[in-house]
Amino acid sequence: MTTDPEPSSRQRGEDTKVLVAYAGVHGSTRSIAERIAARLREQGLRADALPVEAVDDLRVYDAFVVGSAVHDMAWLPEALTFVRRGAELFVRHGVWIFSVGMPAALRGPWKAFAAKEEEHVAGHLIDELRPRGHRLFSGVIRPEHLSGTGRVKLRAMGLRYGDYRDWSEVDAWARDIARAVLGGAGPGGPA
Ligand SMILES: Cc1cc2nc3c(=O)[nH]c(=O)nc-3n(C[C@H](O)[C@H](O)[C@H](O)COP(=O)(O)O)c2cc1C
Repeated sequence: MTTDPEPSSRQRGEDTKVLVAYAGVHGSTRSIAERIAARLREQGLRADALPVEAVDDLRVYDAFVVGSAVHDMAWLPEALTFVRRGAELFVRHGVWIFSVGMPAALRGPWKAFAAKEEEHVAGHLIDELRPRGHRLFSGVIRPEHLSGTGRVKLRAMGLRYGDYRDWSEVDAWARDIARAVLGGAGPGGPA
């Protein structure tokens, strides 16, 4: 009598499709989403990085990563609409969430404030979606992204403009996601 061999992790990956959906304005969130999807593919998974508005049928995906740029301490409205649309599937299949802000661009006393930002920005999403992981990444912030008043306000917060994306942090998180998806542990694992 023969028994079917366990599927190899490559075989499991080819059968598993991950959606990395994102909302952003100036390109950093898109770049991070595309990087995550590329790393997932390197690990053998099938992965699409798509803006939230371009996602058609959510039911073709087995796991989800959802990210948004942070504006005024909140996810963008289109990202929140997408979360409402997919919440039930996200909870059932497992979801990872990421926010892209500028904690690394702040100086002095505002650094401590930045450490609390994720709770403010994503706390309600964490309660609602029980994600398997969540991160607040830093993106790119340039003066031309802001209004005159915005520039004055952020200067007062010690903001230094620049590209604060930390690719090694993004890569490490994507590898954790791949490991968890390929490992097949159900939703509700460690964040
Ligand atoms: C109008 C505006 C408001 C912002 N508000 C915040 C904020 O409250 N907290 C934060 O961490 N970053 C804030 N940022 C910084 C952006 O989230 C950051 O630049 C991010 O990389 C933007 O992503 P994107 O390039 O995908 O649009 C703000 C940026 C803009 C343009």
